Amino acid sequence: MTNPEPALLDMQGLTVRLKTPRGWLTVLDQVSLKVHAGQTLGLVGESGCGKSVTALAIMRLLPTRQTDYANGQILFDGSDLLQHSEKTMRSLRGRRMAMIFQEPMTSLNPVLPVGEQVAESLRLHRGMDAASARAEVVRLLNLVGIPGAARRASSYAHELSGGQRQRVMIAIALACRPSLLIADEPTTALDVTVQAQILRLLDDLRREFGMGMLLITHDLALVADHCDRVAVMYAGRMVEQRSAAGLFRRPWHPYTRALLETTPAQHAPGSMLPVIAGAVPPLGERGSECLFSSRCERVSARCAAAPALLTQGHNGHERVACWHADSN
Ligand SMILES: Nc1ncnc2c1ncn2[C@@H]1O[C@H](COP(=O)(O)OP(=O)(O)OP(=O)(O)O)[C@@H](O)[C@H]1O
Ligand SMILES: [Mg+2]
Repeated sequence: MTNPEPALLDMQGLTVRLKTPRGWLTVLDQVSLKVHAGQTLGLVGESGCGKSVTALAIMRLLPTRQTDYANGQILFDGSDLLQHSEKTMRSLRGRRMAMIFQEPMTSLNPVLPVGEQVAESLRLHRGMDAASARAEVVRLLNLVGIPGAARRASSYAHELSGGQRQRVMIAIALACRPSLLIADEPTTALDVTVQAQILRLLDDLRREFGMGMLLITHDLALVADHCDRVAVMYAGRMVEQRSAAGLFRRPWHPYTRALLETTPAQHAPGSMLPVIAGAVPPLGERGSECLFSSRCERVSARCAAAPALLTQGHNGHERVACWHADSN
């Protein structure tokens, strides 16, 4: 899909190094991605490839002293988030950009009733008085499928199930109607019915308010159903960016192809799932070669130097980083 509008979020060549017990290691290497208003970008890739770090970098929530934004820009509405003060970031978080975290328990306040936490966001970011905030809390908790919402509002986080806590987190994120929502595995803790309900709700908000969304997930079926575009990461690098329809019709990068082949939907229930043989090269052991080359059936001498993520195909929006891509 072509999109002449400037992107709501435009990450360009972001390189992030994190301080680890083994020293400073490159976790994200020249990562670029775009999210447009009213659209959803799916971000996929095996565990440890840098999806959550990408999300936390956008929110500027990586631990300050252990993080080096070595290169690149994160343009949000045209200005670089990496140049903002913490004070400016605090006012953007919650109001203009919100995140649903992978680990819901760690992000709820244990000593404040959950309804209060939703209300706080409404008062702070939408300027509601106490009475309208109370009514809106119940409406939002209902929307995210919390049974007995009015009663549940006065519960504490530890009194809720994992799935209910995750739904409260989603209500908090949506309370301020952010322009950009980053959802990191938002529905993993939920059963399929609730999962479908939440994703429909997010789709509605996207359409109604033009919210842009970055959806991080292991579940490629969710990507196929809910995303306009897909970004595929491998070992801290971007390897393919396509329209969802194009990618599922014909993946270009051998890594994307291998990922799609591991999708359970393509196999009979109970059958052995194919796994991608080999392992992701660990942090600190990543050179200038194509990092998938050690696992790739198409590897050749050229792969000793990783190709850049380059535009291929006809419409100028489909990109892949592979010397042997299936993009003709
Ligand atoms: N604060 C940190 N300090 C040092 N290393 C980190 C930190 N956070 C993440 N890492 C490392 O960065 C790499 C990318 O991690 P990240 O959490 O982004 O992976 P992910 O793609 O979200 O994986 P998953 O699918 O399992 O959630 C991993 O090797 C991880 O160990
Ligand atoms: Mg993660």
